[in-house]
Amino acid sequence: MKLVKTSAFLALLSVATLNAQTLKSPDGKFEMNFNLKNGIPYYNLKYNGNVVVEDSKLGLRLFKDTSIKFASEIAKPSDAANDLNYGFEKTDEKRDSKNETWQPVLGEKKNYINHYNELAVTLNQTSTDRSIVVKFRLFNDGLGFRYEFPQQKNLNYFVIREEDSEIDFPTDMKSWWIVADYDSQEYLYQETKISEIPVRWPKAADANASQTLIKNAIQSPVMLKKEGKNPLYVNVAEAAVLDYPASHLEVDATNFKFKTHLTADRQGAKGYIQTPSVTPWRTIIVSPKAEEVLDSKMIFNLNEPTKYTDTSYIHPTKYMGVWWEMIIGKSTWAYGQPESNVRIGETDFSKLTPNGKHAANNTKVKEYIDFAAANGFQGLLIEGWNVGWEDWFGHSKEFVFDFITPYPDFDIKMLNDYAHSKGIKLIMHHETSGSATNYERWADKAFKLMNENGYDAVKTGYVGDIIPRGEHHYSQWTINHYYRIAEKANEYKIMVNSHESVRPTGESRTYPNYISAEAARGTEYEAFGGNNPDHQTILPFTRWMGGPMDYTPGIFQTKLDYYFPGDTRFVQTTLAKQLALYVVMYMPLQMAADLPENYAKHMDAFQFIKDVAADWDETKILSAEPGDYIHTARKAKGTDNWFVGGITDENARDFTVDFSFLDKGKKYEATIYEDGKDADYINNPQSYHIYKKTVDSKTKLPVHLVRSGGYAISVKPVK
Ligand code: NOJ
Ligand code: CA
Repeated sequence: MKLVKTSAFLALLSVATLNAQTLKSPDGKFEMNFNLKNGIPYYNLKYNGNVVVEDSKLGLRLFKDTSIKFASEIAKPSDAANDLNYGFEKTDEKRDSKNETWQPVLGEKKNYINHYNELAVTLNQTSTDRSIVVKFRLFNDGLGFRYEFPQQKNLNYFVIREEDSEIDFPTDMKSWWIVADYDSQEYLYQETKISEIPVRWPKAADANASQTLIKNAIQSPVMLKKEGKNPLYVNVAEAAVLDYPASHLEVDATNFKFKTHLTADRQGAKGYIQTPSVTPWRTIIVSPKAEEVLDSKMIFNLNEPTKYTDTSYIHPTKYMGVWWEMIIGKSTWAYGQPESNVRIGETDFSKLTPNGKHAANNTKVKEYIDFAAANGFQGLLIEGWNVGWEDWFGHSKEFVFDFITPYPDFDIKMLNDYAHSKGIKLIMHHETSGSATNYERWADKAFKLMNENGYDAVKTGYVGDIIPRGEHHYSQWTINHYYRIAEKANEYKIMVNSHESVRPTGESRTYPNYISAEAARGTEYEAFGGNNPDHQTILPFTRWMGGPMDYTPGIFQTKLDYYFPGDTRFVQTTLAKQLALYVVMYMPLQMAADLPENYAKHMDAFQFIKDVAADWDETKILSAEPGDYIHTARKAKGTDNWFVGGITDENARDFTVDFSFLDKGKKYEATIYEDGKDADYINNPQSYHIYKKTVDSKTKLPVHLVRSGGYAISVKPVK
């Protein structure tokens, strides 16, 4: 009897070991367990022996791949037999590991360390004889996993109905999130428990020019915190979203469980696949320290190294722009009257009655060039230089811009020659109004014009609904468009900064000329309704995890009644906090967004923006808490200069900057730009105090941040 029991036990054990695999992180702190339960794949994740993610299901649902006739296909009930989420047997298991150091072309550090252990499990669905691979990579900062589809007879072309990757947390957690939307990311962050998301959700969205909300779902990345004695910070995101839609997370508020929800196209399809193929990585970064989450480069490590043969044209740039004056409504992009019935190629724009407020005119642009050049900037963005802005979005107009014809008062050659004579490059602007088809049609001509005139960076934009009509900003076709444009720009040696495009997920490793995107609620919203004082303390934990954001900091004239008496709009920070953003927000194509006249009034504070670097050899997150504060120190690329910046939410705070990151035994001169004693982001935002102090690695410097305030410090070795 005993013997029988033992052999039954052994048989059970061998099935269990056959179907369950364990993977450890290189430092042994993380453990991932994969197992098949009744043919269904599950994984879980432990950190220091504690469960961070409970057994969570994996799988995909597909459309019937034999006869894709979409209008009717969508209406059909799902064909469960065709799904890739049941009836699996493990047929193979491969392990691998890597420990490499690589150098990003532009980055927060000189070296990024890519160190992981890998497990790839091949699963065969016996009833259909189709195989998929689930690949896990476990790093010292978290887990990435994806599906791989080897080429095979029974799985060659297929269309995804949904990816059902679950992340099941054992407990309720605090979370920082924005509503899920196929077309907009420009929302304010909400701070709630997971269990409270559905209650807050209906109040969490405001209007946008293009909007397709997904009820009760949230966007990735989302930042989470297990509170209590042993806090744990968790970031859920994705990496390498290429030839695939961007994902959202459906929320099961009762079970504290998220499930992938991919961006659909108009047909309801969520990815057209030809094997061999791989999905993006689902990422879970975990640490007891919030600072380590900001420090994680896992998402970049999960992207492929670049294939570009020449990256020498890619360089950090600080720029000013003919921009903020349009955002606040002082000037216009359009030359003619709004809503004139213009047609590219037919309308003679020189015959339009000028509206009198067109900012991109020769006289004004020259003034901006003079100021930017005198203050050491490398670039100047000019928006509204090209014809077509009179009816630029909201009409689903496909041929809205040609990207090559300037307005009659913008002399493209003269202005570029003038800028170059002063060491400034103009930055091109290509607003597409969402008409991606039109942009692809004109891209070669547009980039050629840039080459001819010496522009090496372009800001693109996708305001309004996407054309092809029915596509969304984050659906597979449109994501392919963004990277097609990046590749085309690379052919012309052009850097790209893209607005209203999809949030980056580490692609700058593969497409290093795709410097940045906006893809979140930037400074412009300070003029469209305001950003909460905690907004900038959340963005680095969410939107920034996958790559730099064009937040466009540097507004000194925060109160808009300065331009328009009685106007109640204001930028919800102090001036000193605006300075701090240059360090806290990593952005190698970094803007000083305010008007020259406003900087001219505060040249002492402006000095920090002139001095600060945009590309770094080292980054140290000194202290951080999502939604509350971030203090960051960075060492400028190729120099011994350091810059420190700290910001706070709606609460005033004290902080002590510990300079132990400096070289031992060396003396440095620090210039401290802090909130004035009487500063207040509502009542007295322009009060600041600047002083100098000699510091070394032993210095501990107290700073006071007023509500929505901050400080910035530049640190240079004493020669
Ligand atoms: C929205 C962008 O975010 C903004 O920066 C730009 O000025 C306008 N679109 C016009 O292209
Ligand atoms: Ca807070």
